[in-house]
Amino acid sequence: MNALLSTALMAFLTYSSLSAASPIASYVKPDTATTSTSAAGAPTFSPLTPAEIKDLQTELILAASYKDKEQVLFPPGNGGSANNVSFQFVNSPGTPPQDGSVIVGSVDSIPGLIGTNVAAAIGFIGPCGLNVPHLHPRANEFLTVVNGTLIGAFLLEEDGMFAGDIPQVAMTLTNFTGMLFPQGHIHWQFNPTCEQAVFAAAFDSNDEGRFQVAQTFFSSMPDDVLTASLGNPSFLGPTQLDQLRGLIPEAFVVMVDSCAQACGISTT
Ligand SMILES: *[C@@H]1O[C@H](CO)[C@@H](O)[C@H](O)[C@H]1NC(C)=O
Ligand SMILES: *[C@@H]1O[C@H](CO)[C@@H](O)[C@H](O)[C@H]1NC(C)=O
Ligand SMILES: *[C@@H]1O[C@H](CO)[C@@H](O)[C@H](O)[C@H]1NC(C)=O
Repeated sequence: MNALLSTALMAFLTYSSLSAASPIASYVKPDTATTSTSAAGAPTFSPLTPAEIKDLQTELILAASYKDKEQVLFPPGNGGSANNVSFQFVNSPGTPPQDGSVIVGSVDSIPGLIGTNVAAAIGFIGPCGLNVPHLHPRANEFLTVVNGTLIGAFLLEEDGMFAGDIPQVAMTLTNFTGMLFPQGHIHWQFNPTCEQAVFAAAFDSNDEGRFQVAQTFFSSMPDDVLTASLGNPSFLGPTQLDQLRGLIPEAFVVMVDSCAQACGISTT
């Protein structure tokens, strides 16, 4: 904590002295910039290192006004680059574009989102892939399918009135059709085809978060709490619960067996 504070303070002091030496008047306006920002010559994205992300987060949190934030994000002499408010969803370290990837651009990866209510995601859902039931505690989501087909669904809010199934609404999303997944609602997306699907999603929080429903529910302790909440089934004791816990996947995206069989995909 002390280390973090002193790093923050140092960053702040360094920045204060820099900004004192270079008042806003010296800021190079885009139309007079020597660096070309024409369509042919604008800078290309270069990923930030984890350390640069942390530093930028600290500096932005210390910037009181929007004008101060601009000075942090686009310091004078940066060549008119929007790099600090850009993000490449594929080819970032560790996130190649592949089936079953959901790549999120939120405040953790794009510090420039600090002070906004925006995050975004790009997802590659392979044949028969299921983006497992989950919810976002802090954001509504609007998800648009940009290639292939997904079925999107969410469960409605029923306030302690459980009598049979909680109603679910669903939509087949294809050809740039999008759908709202309201904040805090359990939802999922399933690719029912034998071809890849790609989606783009927008969130109205820079820190949307994610709860995996099965993982979260079956992590509840002690076992009695779980079995009681499931109606104390005779077939589900501590042994079976542990077996079940061992099976629940960590992955965001898994494959649906019946679909995989229909598409001739081996799931072993
Ligand atoms: C991004 O922000 C950091 C911190 O202010 C700054 O050092 C860096 O030059 C900025 N990068 C660009 C391309 O503006
Ligand atoms: C997608 O929408 C466009 C525009 O309406 C239409 O021309 C095209 O045929 C549609 N493609 C599919 C696969 O539905
Ligand atoms: C869309 O998906 C089809 C089927 O997987 C693929 O052949 C095509 O290349 C994809 N198009 C784009 C733009 O990714």
